[in-house]
Amino acid sequence: MVIKKNFLVLLEPSGVQFEVGPGETLVEAAQRLGVDQLRFGCQLGGCGRCKLQVLTGEYQHEDLSWIHVSKEEESKGITLACCTRALGDLVITQEL
Ligand code: FES
Repeated sequence: MVIKKNFLVLLEPSGVQFEVGPGETLVEAAQRLGVDQLRFGCQLGGCGRCKLQVLTGEYQHEDLSWIHVSKEEESKGITLACCTRALGDLVITQEL
């Protein structure tokens, strides 16, 4: 399935919002739009710096480094922003 729609991402607690385009990861969108509040590093899923929790909304992620996100964390909506694409509007936080 190819998602061709933009979605809105709300980063809490800062309240910063940004739009993520079709096929973009959350980091790619933040970088494109100059959203400094989203923390990230390698952009390759290796450093864990972009770890976040999705509080609401649907998303999909690529393979995650289990060093940075355990199966238990994954079940609680924790993921890596550089490996995650929105399937709808999201509310996220990096305060874990
Ligand atoms: S930026 Fe390094 S794991 Fe996402």
